[in-house]
Amino acid sequence: MSPTGGKTPPALDVNALLDDPRTKIIVCCGSGGVGKTTTAAALGVRAAERGRDVVVLTVDPARRLAQSMGLSELDNNPRKIEVEGDGELHAMMLDMKRTFDEIVEAHADPDRAKQILANPFYQSLSSSLSGTQEYMAMEKLGQLHRSGAWDLIIVDTPPSRNALDFLDAPERMGRFLDGRFMRILATPAKTGGRFGVKVISAGFGMVTGVLNKVIGVQLLRDVQTFVAAFDTMFGGFRERAEKTFRLLQTPGTAFLVVAAPEPDALREASYFVERLAEERMPLAGLVVNRVHESAVDTLSAARGQAAAETLEERGEHTLTAALLRLHTQRLQRSAREERLREHFASAHPNVPVTAVAAQAEDVHDLDGLRRVGEDLAA
Ligand SMILES: Nc1ncnc2c1ncn2[C@@H]1O[C@H](COP(=O)(O)OP(=O)(O)OP(=O)(O)O)[C@@H](O)[C@H]1O
Ligand SMILES: [Mg+2]
Repeated sequence: MSPTGGKTPPALDVNALLDDPRTKIIVCCGSGGVGKTTTAAALGVRAAERGRDVVVLTVDPARRLAQSMGLSELDNNPRKIEVEGDGELHAMMLDMKRTFDEIVEAHADPDRAKQILANPFYQSLSSSLSGTQEYMAMEKLGQLHRSGAWDLIIVDTPPSRNALDFLDAPERMGRFLDGRFMRILATPAKTGGRFGVKVISAGFGMVTGVLNKVIGVQLLRDVQTFVAAFDTMFGGFRERAEKTFRLLQTPGTAFLVVAAPEPDALREASYFVERLAEERMPLAGLVVNRVHESAVDTLSAARGQAAAETLEERGEHTLTAALLRLHTQRLQRSAREERLREHFASAHPNVPVTAVAAQAEDVHDLDGLRRVGEDLAA
């Protein structure tokens, strides 16, 4: 039982997870800004220092964190990072556009590839279609896995507001790219005439829903040449997305859901946990990141507050009164966080949990990542 009377969830054994040679892929997901990238990087450092050969695929890392890992530029290739211990750590930043280009280069002959890459429609699609980042993260994961170069791949997920986007977007995008919509768009080029115009508008009506975030879709001619050139690749996109999706269902994969001890993030985590169960994807546990704990547990919030009020009324010891206030607020915050965690645990009593303390400053170097790693494993 916890101090507030709720049930204590099982503890997530991060060391066991990292050390188990059967763990091949760890996916860190969660809603925006909760610490997915930091968690992924910290796990990478810890796993490497415990002897594994790890690659961490980060998405949009904060600049200082990227620098601390020697990732000062986007080049879409894993770079080695010096760590202590027997393992090896590589890290990379996902370059969504570059990953897309590489797929085109790998699947079309050089002339066609050139034609596709130069097409304005392709350029806008590859960088602004909603879901591209999620799709490309999956694609890159598939590539890293196929390369067989690492015994553990840690995947960070894109900064979407909704954690489920990581699972939904690739399928949505695969459906779009695998041609059904694209074929409708291409039809007028072949039939022409009044009928063709009708098909164009019908096609656009359907596609705009999917394409809602693409800029400059009016370039119809570009679209048609693009589709003609892209034709050889239809099918491959969705197929690969599905393959990676199945990879995520294998027992070698472990999902870690990251959340802040806040109502929205924990609610999002809750949805995600349920969805993973539906998809039969293996959940390792929940990481509650940036929790606040008070080092002083001898003075309760109520007594601290009463003492502060007394001092304030008397106009004495203003500094002490301010400190007591601060202490009270910290205790109240940590009690609030505790209640939220218990609420999650009562809805998901079997989900193992670990917590990471809020560090005094942003995590931006290897030592900071090691501290986060220690908390994760504590
Ligand atoms: N435990 C922590 N203590 C202090 N700062 C933290 C902690 N965890 C993360 N941060 C900081 O919070 C910020 C956001 O973290 P991070 O980038 O890992 O989140 P994210 O979930 O990947 O965000 P996004 O959804 O934008 O990708 C970073 O500046 C990071 O250094
Ligand atoms: Mg991130």
